[in-house]
Amino acid sequence: MERTLLIIKPDAVAGRHIGDILKMVVDAGFNIKALRMTRLTRDQAARFYAVHEGKPFYEPLQDYMTSGKIVPVALERENAVAKLREVLGATDPAKAAPGTIRALYGSSIERNAAHGSDSVENGLQETAFFFGESEF
Ligand code: CDP
Ligand code: MG
Repeated sequence: MERTLLIIKPDAVAGRHIGDILKMVVDAGFNIKALRMTRLTRDQAARFYAVHEGKPFYEPLQDYMTSGKIVPVALERENAVAKLREVLGATDPAKAAPGTIRALYGSSIERNAAHGSDSVENGLQETAFFFGESEF
């Protein structure tokens, strides 16, 4: 079993798509292991996206990710990281395959509805960013 982190981002929470997105990942065979609704501080957003430091979208991304509530969700299934990226679709909703979360609920390359970890190692690190091991 592999672990990955889904985040339902502020635009999708405000757009009332929490239920739609959770249904899509459960239908795709994921088990929800831990979940909460929270709002990131600026410092937390900067740390979570530290890999993007220096890129032109780093600061705007922090503004956006702290603009409202988010729902981090720890997910497990076989091949979880790659499978979630598939269900999410491409970073840019305009390029995401039809029927994917970002194609359905994203509105721009920044406001793209949801996050998914990009490697097995980051799946473990990012789930640990939000959830303690006892919550699994
Ligand atoms: O989220 P994903 O792994 O698909 O993409 P990323 O390259 O790791 O970028 C992280 C997040 O930054 C994206 O999900 C977008 O919200 C945002 N982003 C942006 O605003 N402008 C870009 N040109 C690229 C990414
Ligand atoms: Mg990424």
